[in-house]
Amino acid sequence: MRRRVLVLMGGRSSEHDVSLSSARSVMNALDPERHEVVPVLIDRDGAWTREGRGVALCPGPDGRGVLVPLEGGAPEPVDVVFPVLHGPFGEDGTVQGLCDMAGLPCVGAGVAASAIAMDKALFKHLAHQAGIPVADAVVVTAGEWADDPDAIRRAAAGLGDTVFVKPARLGSSVGISRVTSAEDLDDAIRLALEHDERILVERGVRGKEVEVGVLGDHELVVSPPGQISYDAEWYDYETKYQAGLASLQIPADLPPPVAERARELAERAYRAVGCEGMGRIDFFVTDDGEVLVSELNTIPGFTPTSAYPSLMGAAGVGYSELVTRLVDLAVARAERTARLRR
Ligand SMILES: Nc1ncnc2c1ncn2[C@@H]1O[C@H](COP(=O)(O)OP(=O)(O)O)[C@@H](O)[C@H]1O
Ligand SMILES: [Mg+2]
Repeated sequence: MRRRVLVLMGGRSSEHDVSLSSARSVMNALDPERHEVVPVLIDRDGAWTREGRGVALCPGPDGRGVLVPLEGGAPEPVDVVFPVLHGPFGEDGTVQGLCDMAGLPCVGAGVAASAIAMDKALFKHLAHQAGIPVADAVVVTAGEWADDPDAIRRAAAGLGDTVFVKPARLGSSVGISRVTSAEDLDDAIRLALEHDERILVERGVRGKEVEVGVLGDHELVVSPPGQISYDAEWYDYETKYQAGLASLQIPADLPPPVAERARELAERAYRAVGCEGMGRIDFFVTDDGEVLVSELNTIPGFTPTSAYPSLMGAAGVGYSELVTRLVDLAVARAERTARLRR
């Protein structure tokens, strides 16, 4: 039976265009003998369209999700959803919850894991609890900043000469500042608070940036670490998305025990968060070989040159096989869940 795979793309986040590019690659790679692609675009305002016509995803008469044309007409059946959405309103558990409500298997992490991984403060708490090393940080809310900015300035000073100030729930380096002098801290905090009511001030770590890809539910494929190199102070928005400014080297230039440590921590972080399907775990590796987990992305980029598919390729899983396995994992997971007593 050919599965009807709803590929969700675009979305309301700043990563709209990256998502379109990722989704195009995913759709091309899904074997047409086994999959029928149902592309749905979410525009920047959040409206869903299928070939230019408004649609909504909701439970059908038998509780199984259908795509309903808003202008009338027959609902279209769907077998599985592949969200190729990055950032808020896609990678953060919201679309995953919609799929659950619509009774549809969804590729990748579920509601809780998506929400935890999206929230840098929650993720760091959880990683720390699990004994996974992360950079020291203080979490600040808009209310706390308004109440007692001096207390926050003191806490930030305690983190060292260089700190990174970032919104808790965003991506693509948007709203992030690298702060190297106390007088720039307030502006950095205000900027981050424009993007989220909860932000982090994090100790600046000097060293390499390294990424590890993970695929699977219980049995995991863990890639070798890849290393991001760029000619900039840090991996900011421009460096990430302007072609040619950053490069990925696989494997990373690390002594074998350090590379193994990164793989081990990637697997531990993945399991601690309760990830399913896929994840890309990002690290800092200091010059003396200390490995710190930075963040976990549950819907990593999927363009042909993106890190995640490249890392999986290095682990022996080609692009086409990767997307097929992700769909199979989602369907198998939904079948297991359907058998649970609840
Ligand atoms: N604590 C830190 N030390 C050094 N560099 C950091 C730190 N936090 C963030 N950065 C830099 O900022 C980039 C983006 O930060 P990150 O936390 O990964 O947010 P995003 O989710 O936007 O990718 C990182 O890739 C890194 O270059
Ligand atoms: Mg990052």
